[in-house]
Amino acid sequence: MGLRDALSAGLARQLSRPEGLRGRMVARGLNKSNGVVIAAAVEATGLRSGQVAADVGFGGGIGLRLLLDRVGADGRVHGVELSDTMLAAARQRHRQELADGRIALEKGTLEQLPLPDRRVDGLITVNTIYFVDDLAAVFEEIARVLTAAGRAVIGVADPDWMARMKVTEHVFRIRPVADLVAGLSVAGLDVREQKLDDLRGFRLLIASRKPIEAPE
Ligand SMILES: C[S@@+](CC[C@H](N)C(=O)[O-])C[C@H]1O[C@@H](n2cnc3c(N)ncnc32)[C@H](O)[C@@H]1O
Repeated sequence: MGLRDALSAGLARQLSRPEGLRGRMVARGLNKSNGVVIAAAVEATGLRSGQVAADVGFGGGIGLRLLLDRVGADGRVHGVELSDTMLAAARQRHRQELADGRIALEKGTLEQLPLPDRRVDGLITVNTIYFVDDLAAVFEEIARVLTAAGRAVIGVADPDWMARMKVTEHVFRIRPVADLVAGLSVAGLDVREQKLDDLRGFRLLIASRKPIEAPE
């Protein structure tokens, strides 16, 4: 492997799970480059004051801050992460909110969410599903934790744009948006797609439970 390949493989690993000092630097960059799309994802949840929110794979954690502001003092935010470094940094940043019981920060994965059934009114997960093999398990978990009127917002960059990035030659799994929508439907979720005005052709997939059909 040449130097350029080795560097992009290292960056891909850090993006999939930022750890250590380099992970902290990567997380700072993520907050900067993804702040606008994460803010759009939070907006798309439609969350109201006093409700329960979640950010899964929060990385640098800008989404946690935005969700805390959105649900206010009577709401609650669950942050779920795979990376010990990202969890430790968030625990440090949110000492006060942890003490006040406004936030819970737990180690976990999209495939196995450490959350009870029908708990979450609004969930975001942005730039995460590229690192997952078993997407069906992820979508089932999202459907399981959403309340009846809950909304999940999955943020992904345009697959063609992604495929042109050298870093995505390693670790990443890029899937057509239509496959994501189909997978969400199998898990019992309807999807509305929102395209953002963004260089990366960012999409938000806004998913909610399909209405239960009345018996004939
Ligand atoms: C590219 S970063 C995105 C961080 C943030 N959401 C953003 O858009 O800036 C991916 C994050 O997802 C986390 N992650 C990767 N695979 C995960 C999984 N299976 N379950 C939960 N989190 C995961 C990583 O640890 C990392 O912090």
